[in-house]
Amino acid sequence: MADVFTPQGPSLRELAVQALSSIERGYDLLAPKFDLTPFRTPDRVLDAVAEALVPLGPFPAGLDLCCGTGAGVHVLAELCERHVTGVDFSAGMLTVARSAVPSVAGGPEVRWVRADVRSLPFRRCFDLVVSFGAFGHFLPEERPVLFAQAHAALRPGGLFAFPLGAPPRVGSGAYWATWGFDGAMRIRNALWRPRFVMYYRTFPLSEVREELARAGFAVSTLPLHAFGKRPDGSPRARLVLARRE
Ligand SMILES: C[S@@+](CC[C@H](N)C(=O)[O-])C[C@H]1O[C@@H](n2cnc3c(N)ncnc32)[C@H](O)[C@@H]1O
Repeated sequence: MADVFTPQGPSLRELAVQALSSIERGYDLLAPKFDLTPFRTPDRVLDAVAEALVPLGPFPAGLDLCCGTGAGVHVLAELCERHVTGVDFSAGMLTVARSAVPSVAGGPEVRWVRADVRSLPFRRCFDLVVSFGAFGHFLPEERPVLFAQAHAALRPGGLFAFPLGAPPRVGSGAYWATWGFDGAMRIRNALWRPRFVMYYRTFPLSEVREELARAGFAVSTLPLHAFGKRPDGSPRARLVLARRE
């Protein structure tokens, strides 16, 4: 069966089985090969976010929502002094994360928690909450709950931060690719159970800003300079900074 990304990465058959499962089961299946796919947030994005957050830290305690195999926990470990926690509902992803990101002597303690981020077991525990590459798994109507959970997990004054790319230019290759992907997923989810929610075009900055403000955050953005500007001068990628007031 064809290799989709690299010879060591998941085959087309493995990806198809994953895509016909629930989100949780799908990631359990993909976990051993997840870091060989483009679905893991690239180091370039992680580095740009870490660089933008350094002047706002250091932070005592950090949380990575939908941590997967631990990409964002690496970032938190650079920024947080006491402890960092990765939370995900896929036991398979957490197993890989545990061996990929151990606690290191002299660094913050690294913890892993299995939970659905729509119902987190944390109240006022963290100073920084981050999330990478996972918001496509939430329907727009689920976002108020998700943002309320991030808000509740933070101490007053704490920061919820995540990168967000500008939408692709209408008519570009990326525009049609995301449009086609979302269309295929809508057909799949209309015809097949369990659903696998993953959409690229459902997280627009303007709506997200309003929803974060309604959840009790003061919202600002920083350009991620490493990704340059669009022809109209706006940044290709931003860091959204939502501070618990
Ligand atoms: C595309 S992966 C991103 C992983 C990692 N953040 C990264 O950037 O490489 C999405 C992750 O979100 C997790 N996830 C999706 N919905 C979730 C939910 N409701 N609660 C907890 N984890 C969830 C999946 O299990 C998966 O590990």
